[in-house]
Amino acid sequence: MLQLRVTQLPELSLKNVLVINYSQTGQLADITAEVIAPLRSAGHNVHLETLVPETPFPWPWPIVDFVDAFPECVQLDAPPIKPLSIPPDSQFDLVILTYQVWYLAPALPMTAFLTSPEGKRLINGKPVITLVACRNMWLSAQKTMQKLIAEAGGQLRDHLVFTDQGHALATFITTPRWVLTGRRNSWLGLPPAGVAPEEIRQASRFGRALSDALNQDGEKSGAAMLTGLRAATVNPRLALSERAAHRAFKVWSKLIRAFGRRGQWRRRPILLVFALYLITLVLTVVPLSLLIQWLLSPLLTPRLERLKAELEQPSGSQEYNLNKYAQ
Ligand SMILES: Cc1cc2nc3c(=O)[nH]c(=O)nc-3n(C[C@H](O)[C@H](O)[C@H](O)COP(=O)(O)O)c2cc1C
Repeated sequence: MLQLRVTQLPELSLKNVLVINYSQTGQLADITAEVIAPLRSAGHNVHLETLVPETPFPWPWPIVDFVDAFPECVQLDAPPIKPLSIPPDSQFDLVILTYQVWYLAPALPMTAFLTSPEGKRLINGKPVITLVACRNMWLSAQKTMQKLIAEAGGQLRDHLVFTDQGHALATFITTPRWVLTGRRNSWLGLPPAGVAPEEIRQASRFGRALSDALNQDGEKSGAAMLTGLRAATVNPRLALSERAAHRAFKVWSKLIRAFGRRGQWRRRPILLVFALYLITLVLTVVPLSLLIQWLLSPLLTPRLERLKAELEQPSGSQEYNLNKYAQ
């Protein structure tokens, strides 16, 4: 007698994912698209919401506007964004917040979203993944993101990092040149500005891994879903310089705001003093602190190793899943 065996396929649970994005050059939008594509191919429903500031930020940035944006970035005082296009009754299983860093803080459109009643409502009670693309100093901004997400009632589950190609000292030239002139090409033997195209392409590994995790209700587990994929690599030496710079930024931003609001002429003289301070900081304090740390490295190594492991949480820099999800 012929026996028919019916194998039951596991039921896939398809999820609703909200992705928040804003990008001036399209770089962050490209990375976001790489992450989203595998989710959509697997059948998950992804709503991509692009933040639109009521008054657009310029690109490239005129130098005065660039410096003038500093105090409000640091003090998290963001100008408003346009209303979102999300239908009011939409329910999401997961929120992905993609952002860039402006002056060691989240870019103003992301700050505007996270501090708005609508943004808080969308995040409340939800698992959240953050994705940052910036020059390379994202630690302070991510600390702020963690605080704002927690205040809104969200739970940060993973953090993915994309930084500009080339040595940290080279990007001190290539990134500001890109932001202030719009030119991204290789110059004076330095690498092109921005995240390497290959890194952008490989961002799709996170989408494939996330899709697998969502299929198994991973977003409900409370644990990180994207470990083993080299999600976040920290250079602890830069972390120490960044901490010092962030402390100074807090003081400077308060001082400048005491002189006037964004766009007002009366704060321009103090902005000029700040700009000179910033250039001096980049040319002297940063290389000097890197040199001192290098000289003290035998003494500092255990502390730096601990700091690295702590700052790379929750997704980490390990690579054990890279082969599985690489393409
Ligand atoms: C006003 C401004 C300030 C910035 N400050 C930082 C910073 O503090 N740290 C950093 O790593 N990158 C910084 N960047 C670079 C951005 O994070 C980002 O890499 C760049 O603006 C391109 O992003 P987008 O084209 O996707 O918008 C800054 C860019 C701008 C426009």
